[in-house]
Parts: sequence; structure tokens; C-alpha cells
Amino acid sequence: MMIQLTPVSAALDAARQAELLYLLQHDCGSCHGMTRKGGLGPPLLPGNLRDRPVALMENAVLDGRPGTPMPPWRGLLTEQEARWLVEAMLRGEGL
Ligand code: HEC
Repeated sequence: MMIQLTPVSAALDAARQAELLYLLQHDCGSCHGMTRKGGLGPPLLPGNLRDRPVALMENAVLDGRPGTPMPPWRGLLTEQEARWLVEAMLRGEGL
């Protein structure tokens, strides 16, 4: 059972949250590692992200990091979904 900690998480239904977690583990995991310990991309574990501004990470997810392999997900993910992913990474969801 996922605990819904914030209003933004609560606004996404459980089915979509499950899809996002799958995306995080598999699609994001192809570069960041299935357990987010890093690979082509840096590790995305709570300890790695705790001190980073949430907005900076949301921007990385939505717009990618030009000049690096980090692709943009805007169009596939809403801003709310990008926020959910950042929150999920920060609480170590699914690890
Ligand atoms: C094709 C490989 C690839 C995929 C797929 C990918 N990333 Fe990345 N990601 C990277 C790389 C490489 C960087 C480092 C970019 C840089 O040097 O600034 C990065 C950076 C990031 C950062 C910034 C980390 C920081 O320390 O500032 C976040 C957050 C992130 N990725 C999340 C995701 C999420 C969430 C997904 C899936 C929706 C994803 N990434 C998919 C390669 C990838």
C-alpha cells in the first residue's frame, strides 16, 4: 500500500502511481539502475537527492539535461507526474 504523503501524490490515482513506479524502475532504471544505484546516469537514491532543490530535479525530468544522455519526458509526463517521481525517489519508493 502506498502512503500518500502530499496533496500532489494524492491527486494521482493508485493505477497511475503504479505505472509511474514501473517507469521509474524500468525506463529510468535503464540508465540510473533498476535500484537507482547509478549506471550511465548518476544514482538517484534518497541520500543522493536529499540536498538538491526539488525544482531542479523536476526540471531535469521534464526537460532533460541538454548535452547529456538525460532525455526530456515532457509530453509523456505531466508536471504533477514529474513531481510525483521526484517525491518517490526522495522517499525511496519501491527500493
Ligand atoms: C538515456 C539515459 C537516461 C534515462 C533513460 C534517464 N536518465 Fe536521468 N540522467 C541521465 C544522465 C546521464 C544524467 C546526468 C545529467 C548531467 O550530467 O547533468 C541524468 C540526470 C538525472 C537527474 C538529475 C540528478 C541530479 O543529481 O541533479 C534526475 C533527477 C534524473 N536524471 C531522473 C530521471 C528519471 C526520473 C528518469 C525517468 C523518467 C530518467 N532520469 C531517465 C540519464 C538518463
